[in-house]
Amino acid sequence: MWSDTPRPTAASTSPWCALRWRRSNRRNDGHLPASGYENNYVASTPGSGRFNCPVTGRYLYVGGDLSRAMLNRTGNPVPRSEFRNYLSSGYRDDLARDILAGMTAEQKCIPSRYFYDARGSQLFEEICRLPEYYQTRLELSILHGACGAIMESFGKGDLVELGPGTDLKASKLIDAAPEPEGEGICYIPVDVSESALAAATEGLLRRYPRLRVLGIVGDFTRDLGYIPARGKKLVTFFGGTIGNFTDPAAQRMLRSVAGVMGEDDRFVVGLDMVKPVPVLEAAYNDAAGVTAAFNKNILAVVNRELGADFDPGRFEHRAGFNRDEERIEMHLVASAAMAVGIPALDLHVAFERGETILTEISRKFTRESAGRLFSAAGLTVERWFSDPKEWFALAEVSRAGLG
Ligand SMILES: C[S@@+](CC[C@H](N)C(=O)[O-])C[C@H]1O[C@@H](n2cnc3c(N)ncnc32)[C@H](O)[C@@H]1O
Repeated sequence: MWSDTPRPTAASTSPWCALRWRRSNRRNDGHLPASGYENNYVASTPGSGRFNCPVTGRYLYVGGDLSRAMLNRTGNPVPRSEFRNYLSSGYRDDLARDILAGMTAEQKCIPSRYFYDARGSQLFEEICRLPEYYQTRLELSILHGACGAIMESFGKGDLVELGPGTDLKASKLIDAAPEPEGEGICYIPVDVSESALAAATEGLLRRYPRLRVLGIVGDFTRDLGYIPARGKKLVTFFGGTIGNFTDPAAQRMLRSVAGVMGEDDRFVVGLDMVKPVPVLEAAYNDAAGVTAAFNKNILAVVNRELGADFDPGRFEHRAGFNRDEERIEMHLVASAAMAVGIPALDLHVAFERGETILTEISRKFTRESAGRLFSAAGLTVERWFSDPKEWFALAEVSRAGLG
């Protein structure tokens, strides 16, 4: 579909054209036309809104404004957005496997990927606006200064964003592109959260009438192979999310990103840096209690998906800096001894009072430790953008070191 360089014309704004498109492409029941095979469906329709996917039955939010649809060479409208879901059938199985492993480990744990259901994604957005959470504001200001240089060397092609959350950072880049209105750019967000993906793409489709979108609902630790291999790529991984990985997992992640990059492609990674401990700890212990709600929401996810009976009210949020590991660790602490049933796993989990579930690590870097991280994965730091105090940084890396 993308190889067919569509050119918008005056006809694309005609109401007649809109009507023809609507009649031929939209089923009477308002559901999306299915492409016929599971987990891969075209999800572009006139307007935008929530639709039930006819294949998976799960809702998907699709964006797109027909009045600005693109036409192909034969004058037919070409959808500007397509979404592919590689998680819908596997999500519950993944969760069941991870919860079984995590609840039977010596240090109980739940992978941070499961924070991000619709409520978790919304709470994370709130966290980004908190006065204590300096990361988002700092990264945006660094990106503001760096986006011209980054986009000048990228030009056009596929803009891949891993775990976008919102459209804020992608739009800074698209605004700085040499061509206006998203011309020549296909935005490819990869996120486990359908709602985050929808939020990130909807605004962009409206704002940039020539932008195309290929949304991938998937796990970026596993599903990068679904990113099309074609043309030039700029891959971004903002928000310091690389810090959520232990060193071996980060190495695997970076190598798999390198695997989808060409020699001239660049990968921009946001890194939260080591800084005074009170600043770090305040960012994860906000006065309004939003991070605590975000942390406890992971138990609601397990309850809903696996029928467990965690009582979030009997767990307390705790986040602190581990100096030896240079990372924030976020835990849920059992306020009393209790047993929790997880029927889908046929499991009863005993908690002692004070026992914890590790829900997130967030590593903090120095320029040296970041350099070691990238070079161990065969990546070369080409440019380094930071704030004057070096509290946050954007590393632009290439796969030059991989040969
Ligand atoms: C810490 S938030 C960062 C959001 C945004 N990039 C920012 O800079 O604020 C992490 C994002 O990655 C997504 N995510 C977490 N684990 C993931 C995984 N394993 N695969 C794909 N997306 C994931 C979440 O849904 C969320 O949108």
